[in-house]
Amino acid sequence: MRNVTVENITEVFAEYFGKDTDPRTREVLVAMARHMHDFAREVNLTHDEWRKGLAMLEHAGRITTPERNEFVLFSDVLGMSSLVDMMHSDPAATSSSVLGPFHVSNPPPLEMGGDMKRDFGGPVLLVEGQVLGTDGKAIPHAKIDIWQTAPNGMYSSQDPDQDINSFHGLMTADETGHFRFTTVRPVEYTVPSDGPVGELLDAAGRHPWRPSHLHYIVTAPGYRSLVTEIFPDDDPYLDQDTVFGVRDDLVMTYHTKPSSEFPAGMALSGKVNEPFLYVKFDVILLAE
Ligand code: BEZ
Ligand code: FE
Repeated sequence: MRNVTVENITEVFAEYFGKDTDPRTREVLVAMARHMHDFAREVNLTHDEWRKGLAMLEHAGRITTPERNEFVLFSDVLGMSSLVDMMHSDPAATSSSVLGPFHVSNPPPLEMGGDMKRDFGGPVLLVEGQVLGTDGKAIPHAKIDIWQTAPNGMYSSQDPDQDINSFHGLMTADETGHFRFTTVRPVEYTVPSDGPVGELLDAAGRHPWRPSHLHYIVTAPGYRSLVTEIFPDDDPYLDQDTVFGVRDDLVMTYHTKPSSEFPAGMALSGKVNEPFLYVKFDVILLAE
């Protein structure tokens, strides 16, 4: 096409594809270009605005490392991570939620009834639950990979004062799918906002806060892996999570219980002298 115009550029883009292009690749790329072109036409995008957007991507590239991926963070705060996730989740199973960048690949084993709180201050949270299939049957020996921030709102990889395994643990459910452990009550925290994602949030008048949560990846042979989080129902940021990760079925009540009700057989049994928090969270996995 010699005469490319504002009106025909999207069709011309599609015509330039090779004949043997994979059909799905063509479908995705043509639709992406159509939406981008429509977006530019709709807002009458200026050179300065487009250059600013490209400069933000360039900045994201410069600061992205294996530990910090600013592009994933863009995807998170723009709602894309959550949208793609929700489009492929099944209502019969526990909702999935964002993975975030702070998972570690070799978490230390966490025994049944084990503790992640160690000497950190803050209320003890006793978590228990069962891993089940959508048929209601227990899934024995499911693996539950758990992580959260310390009471200072930082994950171990962000905080030189924590060892890398701090607030990470890999638990194996028992033969009836049950799991239980103690930790400290998670706190709300901000996503990294000192880069271009922070600029975008500022420009939109948005804050970088996430409601407090516990992360889980639950896996079992024959079942679809579930990446999810649980949130307490009294968190001030529940209705404005900056990465759009909250789902109704992931919101739980943390019940306060007297220390006399702390169960036996846990790493902290006999050591809890103040009221503690208790949450029960069952996980439902989808068969593959
Ligand atoms: C997190 O929950 O760890 C997280 C999720 C998205 C972006 C940043 C952090
Ligand atoms: Fe998190």
